[in-house]
Amino acid sequence: MKEENQKKISGFSSMRKRDKIKWIAKNFFKDPEVVISELSSYWHSNDEQQRILDGFSENTISNFPMPYGVAPNFLIDNKTYCVPMVTEESSVVAAASAAAKFWMERGGFKTEIIGTKKLGQVHFLWYGDPKDLKDHFTDAKIKMIKDTSEIAANMKNRGGGILDLELLDLTDKKKNYYQIKASFETCDSMGANFINTCLEEFAKTLTEFYQKLTGKDDCIEVIMSILSNYTPECLVKAWVECPIEKLGSFKNGMNAEIFATRFNDAIEIAEIDPYRATTHNKGIYNGIDSVVIATGNDFRAIESCGHTYASENTYSSLSHCSIKDGVFKFWLEVPMAVGTVGGLTSLHPIAKRSLELLENPNARELMGIIAATGLAQNFAAIRSLITTGIQQGHMKMHLQNILRHLEATDKEYEKAYLYFKDRVVSFGTVRNFLNQNRQIISQTDLKETN
Ligand code: MEV
Repeated sequence: MKEENQKKISGFSSMRKRDKIKWIAKNFFKDPEVVISELSSYWHSNDEQQRILDGFSENTISNFPMPYGVAPNFLIDNKTYCVPMVTEESSVVAAASAAAKFWMERGGFKTEIIGTKKLGQVHFLWYGDPKDLKDHFTDAKIKMIKDTSEIAANMKNRGGGILDLELLDLTDKKKNYYQIKASFETCDSMGANFINTCLEEFAKTLTEFYQKLTGKDDCIEVIMSILSNYTPECLVKAWVECPIEKLGSFKNGMNAEIFATRFNDAIEIAEIDPYRATTHNKGIYNGIDSVVIATGNDFRAIESCGHTYASENTYSSLSHCSIKDGVFKFWLEVPMAVGTVGGLTSLHPIAKRSLELLENPNARELMGIIAATGLAQNFAAIRSLITTGIQQGHMKMHLQNILRHLEATDKEYEKAYLYFKDRVVSFGTVRNFLNQNRQIISQTDLKETN
């Protein structure tokens, strides 16, 4: 173990990347030379590309590779997509692809943009007479909009900009606490920078306006100005539907009727029970996040927003199902503040390719593609859960990962796939299987050489 003081450093951020790695390798690892060569081996071979990646964050020492896959055969609003997905979880892409193919044969996914409104807040404390604040807010609002006209000019030209500014009295929740709730249309950009710049300008104008009005510098105290990642009115709906008999038949001999009823039951359970809803929604975000990441969008913002939306009453399922007049319908309504211009979308080389692969959608189209992928993922998970159980699908990938870890040969892969077709896969069972096989082979070799 290294001494505690060897793990401390000042001036780290201004060190060269090679020196950063050397210092880390020397002070935190038992095999520094191996660590140095391993971390350096993930640098991009092209210096210019590496510089771009390094520009996204600070103290970068290497790159962290994640699998980049595609799910083809996604028919969304009558257009066929091959959807890019970044995920480390085995079987996510396979499940999305299988669900996409299933629904392609049944009319595909349909989507509707319910809204694209983004939000931001200026949180402040008001120490003056509340009447002064409220009576003059319309004038303050006009001034705030005027003072941001230059900042908002570009967005306005693109058809967006500031939609409204509302004064909220929240003094029943916290003494002196008021808020400006601002709404924006940010067109094809996610809009975080634009919104935050506007909000900080609003805060400045607001302070100056009321200080001048009351003649008191201490009448107002701005606490913070920041966008809200909760955007319930930046909302997309995706759905699939078909007559029940068109669902076909399922594994374990389940017919369409039973499948539809059990599927509906599974969704109702996720609507009722927060424990199940959490796992259910996690499955939806397996699909959503992987496309959000692949297109250079902010998956933390998308997830936190979705979970808040799911908690409007008690935490519940984001997807819903109905069986009416012989028609099975399955849908998802989810907030989705994404962009197709600006930010990483136009800087990250692979994110750019992802958007190209999707034929350069605008933000509204991307909202639909992502929601459809989330719905497909959810459909695949529920289909497995109510028919074969989830492990069967997971196990092949799991087996592959274990075999790779145990350095199996191609022949051993083949034998293991056959052997584990109807057996339980675990690290122990696979290791035993390989050991026994390897023993048999070495005994045979021994006999042959004797
Ligand atoms: C696993 O990552 C996701 C599932 O657990 C989702 C679900 O249970 O609906 C399979």
